[in-house]
Amino acid sequence: MTPLPAVGLLEGRAGLRPSVAADLDGEDLVLDGAGRVTRLRGLPVPVREHLAGNGATVGDDLPDEARRAADALLGRLAHLATNRLTLAEHEVMRHEGTTRATGYTPHPPSDDDVVRLDRFALLRSREDQLVLECPRSVHRFVLTSPEARSLAAEVAVPRRVGDLPTLPGGLAAAELLGHWAGAGLLERADADGTFRSDTDEVLRQWDFHDLLMHSRSRSGRWDEPLGALSPHRGLVDPLPAVTDPRPECARVVALPDPPPWSGGLSLADAVRQRRSVRDYADAPVTLVELATFLHRSFRDRARFDPPVGSAEESKVSRPYPSGGGLYEHELYLTVRRCDGLDPGVYHYDALRHRLELVDDDPEPARAMLAVAAAATGHPSSPDVLLTLTARFQRMSWRYRSIAYANVLRTTGAIYQTMYLVATDLDLAPCALGNGDADLSARVLGLDWLRESSVGDFVLGRRDAADVVAGEPLAGWTVLGSGDPD
Ligand SMILES: Cc1cc2nc3c(=O)[nH]c(=O)nc-3n(C[C@H](O)[C@H](O)[C@H](O)COP(=O)(O)O)c2cc1C
Repeated sequence: MTPLPAVGLLEGRAGLRPSVAADLDGEDLVLDGAGRVTRLRGLPVPVREHLAGNGATVGDDLPDEARRAADALLGRLAHLATNRLTLAEHEVMRHEGTTRATGYTPHPPSDDDVVRLDRFALLRSREDQLVLECPRSVHRFVLTSPEARSLAAEVAVPRRVGDLPTLPGGLAAAELLGHWAGAGLLERADADGTFRSDTDEVLRQWDFHDLLMHSRSRSGRWDEPLGALSPHRGLVDPLPAVTDPRPECARVVALPDPPPWSGGLSLADAVRQRRSVRDYADAPVTLVELATFLHRSFRDRARFDPPVGSAEESKVSRPYPSGGGLYEHELYLTVRRCDGLDPGVYHYDALRHRLELVDDDPEPARAMLAVAAAATGHPSSPDVLLTLTARFQRMSWRYRSIAYANVLRTTGAIYQTMYLVATDLDLAPCALGNGDADLSARVLGLDWLRESSVGDFVLGRRDAADVVAGEPLAGWTVLGSGDPD
């Protein structure tokens, strides 16, 4: 861990984070933290003995050379290290770096500066401590003292530094603020009283939660466990690949098998002609078309059942790719009109290729369709709204930090598969960017935290008068096809 430069009264001392278990195994030091075990060989004896047990910071009792070696080691293990900021042995707060570049220079504001937490900063409870973080910053502070916690609350709103009270022990608020400012979690107002995170043209276009998710669903800026770590193995049973038929279902509609898939568009033509179509023919889609669309885009095309007693999990395979092969998505249909199928809300049973009636009351269906129509911005209503939900825990049982991002990535893969299949069937497809998660959970009878909507897609019969697929609309110029002449 890079030792912090001495500024003011606070002293920085590097050590292992309290959550890290550090044990000697023969001559090795074994560190267990942040979701993985790290075995360190060949450490100088005083360093490994000092760190074993994780009882202390790297203190004065270590010889200079060993202290430098311990600091360098902690610098390489930033995700396990912390800098305790103390005032006369009283811990005021701890600093943690979220990448290997853990250094910052404290930058205390002056009395006339007006300061405020960065617009992207957040305070949250972690392991019974209040932590201050910000996705723009690669630093985190664990606010272990009441004075650090109350100061963080004070500067949630713009405050003139000179108006802030002095902290216990004669510590100036500016000194603590200097650490947060140097680490990029606190802003000084510009001369006109505005803050850069509100006004900068790049920053103002980021929503708080978007930047948070972006910073934490890719590796590089984030020190918590990320990836296929199966964190709940042995604690919680994974969700099965295949769901049971809905027991309370009043009606099941067997779907016709699709005709043999021959004579349709080539892949090249399907890709070339694919477009979002939001106007529909007078005639509705037919049950055979709908069943064919569902079968070709979403059905379980194979299943794997492990032998009894095996540690392997059951799996399915579908026409679209899925993060981790988990196939956590479910599909629901709100049918306004379909030749051969009563209007209503249905669940598509992808294993058995059939529909299960969820609700035939027209009111919930109308509400779902109204949200979809608003999302297209077109006056005409689609024949069928397809609502994609995700069984979230199927993904989060396996993945840390990237579970929700993977659900959305897979949603995109489903969209494209549905677009191409619909294009081949000469239907009118359109993906939607918004759906009402609360409304759909209510209508579909789902617990929002276990399964709720993550994507929507509308479908209808393409109007024959619609521009021929691939022809340019007004104002558009078709560029080179890339095909050989
Ligand atoms: C993630 C995503 C969200 C979309 N959201 C909407 C939407 O809410 N309303 C809509 O009318 N079209 C939506 N679309 C369709 C796009 O507007 C469309 O793909 C884009 O304008 C390009 O036109 P094209 O699909 O005809 O080539 C969405 C597409 C995607 C992939």
